[in-house]
Amino acid sequence: MSAPTTDRADGPVRRGEPILSVRGLEKHFPIKGGGLIKRTVGAVRAVDGVDLDLYPGEVLGLVGESGCGKSTTGRAILNLQPATGGSVKFEGRELVGLSRKQMRPLRRDIALVFQDPYASLNPRLPVFDIVAEPLVIHGLTKDDAELRNRVRELVETVGLNPEHTNRYPAEFSGGQRQRIGIARALALQPKVLVLDEPVSALDVSIQAGVINLLEDLKNDLGLSYLFIAHDLSVVRHISDRVAVMYLGRIIEVAERDELFERPAHPYTQALLSAIPLPDPRRERARQRIIISGDVPSPANPPSGCRFRTRCQKFAHVLTDAQRQKCIDEDPQLADRGAGHLNACHYAEATRVI
Ligand SMILES: Nc1ncnc2c1ncn2[C@@H]1O[C@H](COP(=O)(O)OP(=O)(O)OP(=O)(O)O)[C@@H](O)[C@H]1O
Ligand SMILES: [Mg+2]
Repeated sequence: MSAPTTDRADGPVRRGEPILSVRGLEKHFPIKGGGLIKRTVGAVRAVDGVDLDLYPGEVLGLVGESGCGKSTTGRAILNLQPATGGSVKFEGRELVGLSRKQMRPLRRDIALVFQDPYASLNPRLPVFDIVAEPLVIHGLTKDDAELRNRVRELVETVGLNPEHTNRYPAEFSGGQRQRIGIARALALQPKVLVLDEPVSALDVSIQAGVINLLEDLKNDLGLSYLFIAHDLSVVRHISDRVAVMYLGRIIEVAERDELFERPAHPYTQALLSAIPLPDPRRERARQRIIISGDVPSPANPPSGCRFRTRCQKFAHVLTDAQRQKCIDEDPQLADRGAGHLNACHYAEATRVI
């Protein structure tokens, strides 16, 4: 895979070797049958061959509809739910198959920020303890005074009042709690943050503040983000590149503007065509691409192209011979020009917004 380059208005994105490289990642959950002896009768293929590269200093957005496997991908990358197959390399080092103990020093380098700031913080601990805990577990401060200073610094970094660290999570608003979760994630000075829907649970008015904080932190601390979200406007705002996921696989990856302006996979085109346009005349004139039917079960994905059962192109445009290829051959994610990857036999870049 070639490393694409980009010059954004806010400066060129640093590239080079990926800091995180995921290949053929699988997370299958066994389905147990009934009866006294529980036999495995199948598997939910929540993540079923994911390929991703995250470059130093970049934000890679990961989008896709509910249940497509975004969170499971994040947890498998962090080895919180061990992968059932494939490879995750962090700075060239393989993480799949590492034991808890082997993983522990690496936990400092990759941290997770959860979606729900209400559920992810221990309600019985004051904020000081929540933020201090990773520092204590990893033995990173030599005495109490240093610990207090470090917690104060972290709390200030995320824009909270360090005088309030004796309060409990319930005394903070949603946005403030998410800042506490971010402070905790930053405690170990990670290089990569996996952010799983970090602003989805927040009011729109509060989202912007947290997004701005995340952008500042990334620039100031030189972090790289895998930013999981389903809100395409948030992803468009924050991402350098965007990966689109469908039923356990990545089906398209491109630079942010390239993806939004020239989506090539019919699934991406359908997702983007559902974004409301600010100009009412253009909004009335444009055609929505409807995704028909329900998401197939990840326990039993369709043969060949797994999107074909809901693909408008398959249903209305392709010839019988072309359709047969979609039924028989599983399209692989491949670079079809300038770092724009997609997994469709009949991909065609088309403007939809
Ligand atoms: N522990 C588990 N056991 C069995 N199936 C699971 C488990 N965790 C997740 N799944 C299944 O894996 C699939 C992917 O789930 P996941 O939570 O990763 O999706 P998601 O893309 O994050 O969805 P959302 O946008 O709703 O957060 C779903 O079909 C889900 O039911
Ligand atoms: Mg999720």
